[in-house]
Amino acid sequence: MRLVKRRLLKLLLLSVVLGSLCMLWVSRPKMSWNPSYIMGYSWLEYTNEDGGPEKVCNCSAILRGETGALEQAKLLTITKDFKESVQIPDEYYINATQDCSQFKLSRKYLPYPLSQEEEDFPLAYSMLVHHKVQNFERLLRAIYSPQNIYCVHVDKKSDTSFFSAIMGITSCFPNVFMVSKPVSVVYAAWPRVQADLNCMADLYDASTRWKYFINLCGQDFPLKTNLEIVQMLRSLRGGNSMESEQIGEKKWRVTNSYQIVDGQIQATGKVKDPPPFNLPIMSGNAYIVVSRGYIRSVLEDSRIQALIEWAKDTYSPDEFLWATIQRIPGVPGSTWPNSKYDMTDINAIARLVKWWSHEGSQGSLDAAYPECHGNHVRSICVYGAGDLPWLLEQHHLFANKFDTDTDPIAVYCLEKYLRQKALAELHWM
Ligand SMILES: *[C@@H]1O[C@H](CO)[C@@H](O)[C@H](O)[C@H]1NC(C)=O
Ligand SMILES: *[C@@H]1O[C@H](CO)[C@@H](O)[C@H](O)[C@H]1NC(C)=O
Repeated sequence: MRLVKRRLLKLLLLSVVLGSLCMLWVSRPKMSWNPSYIMGYSWLEYTNEDGGPEKVCNCSAILRGETGALEQAKLLTITKDFKESVQIPDEYYINATQDCSQFKLSRKYLPYPLSQEEEDFPLAYSMLVHHKVQNFERLLRAIYSPQNIYCVHVDKKSDTSFFSAIMGITSCFPNVFMVSKPVSVVYAAWPRVQADLNCMADLYDASTRWKYFINLCGQDFPLKTNLEIVQMLRSLRGGNSMESEQIGEKKWRVTNSYQIVDGQIQATGKVKDPPPFNLPIMSGNAYIVVSRGYIRSVLEDSRIQALIEWAKDTYSPDEFLWATIQRIPGVPGSTWPNSKYDMTDINAIARLVKWWSHEGSQGSLDAAYPECHGNHVRSICVYGAGDLPWLLEQHHLFANKFDTDTDPIAVYCLEKYLRQKALAELHWM
């Protein structure tokens, strides 16, 4: 609690200073893209004053992969005192979001789009979360811009304090809302897809302006600034980007029927009928980057409605449904089902994940990426600070997994880097 008080006090002090500086900006109704305003954005830089205990690290040395700085970071992350000091209780967020303008100001959420190009190309996000408020809040802050729109799905099974904290945060923004129909998510079963579908429908109804849809979970983090994301999406020229490959050895997932029993997925012992219209079932993952037209098809195309009904008793439908829709003729931004159009997760820009089984040194035949510098959770790398130099060389918009409980320094240096870059981009525009 001492930490919380200290942080609150710090936020208060900071906001008094900033408050006077920023009044002008906050009350300005519409920004014009005059370069003389640029200096006014320097208050949005993340400084040591608003960093948590991670601020003792030298992020520029970490991003360059300097051994000394990485060793110091590694040592800190396993120190008990440090680990405890980076924890922020749910109650902190419930409290801090009582005063929204204070919260947004002290956390330096962007009050304006940073460029005309970004303002003209709004994005829609679906964010699925079930624990770890701090991860969510830092992710939201990293991707937040007023022209975008965000749907947050909190798992129905989540703790009340978690729910209240997320609710508190979302209620501070007109363009961030809770999903209208939350579900109870079951690992590898249909509700995981339903949660995204519910957000897709809400986002589609909420605004006609947004151009692309991106889905996230609480442990994702961007590798690009909003401007870079917009530019990469524009370069897709209406196309979608996601893993979508021949289903191969995972075929059993869609030939047998499954049901949820006591909150877990179980085989029913029944064999399934082939998919409607003999649609070729593809393999992919839960995370996609798709055009508005793709989402319209998901919500309205009768072939896809039939596919959705058919998929409800399959195993891990999140790992084939989007990939399959991506190969249906006529779906905006899709590609032909021919295997020449197959796309791996590495070639798609949606999500970078380091699977333990594909890690290794360069030149080894099995390796797809260097070894994880953090730790593994269910065979997936939870990135450490040492992964950052490699992560930032990749073309993906987002990477998974980050965890502010196990390596807050990775998130700290990444968020700092991105904000610095976003503000620097203003100078050459
Ligand atoms: C952080 O590291 C950079 C790069 O090695 C170095 O130039 C800088 O002086 C360091 N800063 C501090 C405060 O140690
Ligand atoms: C919430 O804020 C109030 C008043 O600002 C303070 O008295 C209280 O200790 C805070 N609670 C927590 C859990 O931070």
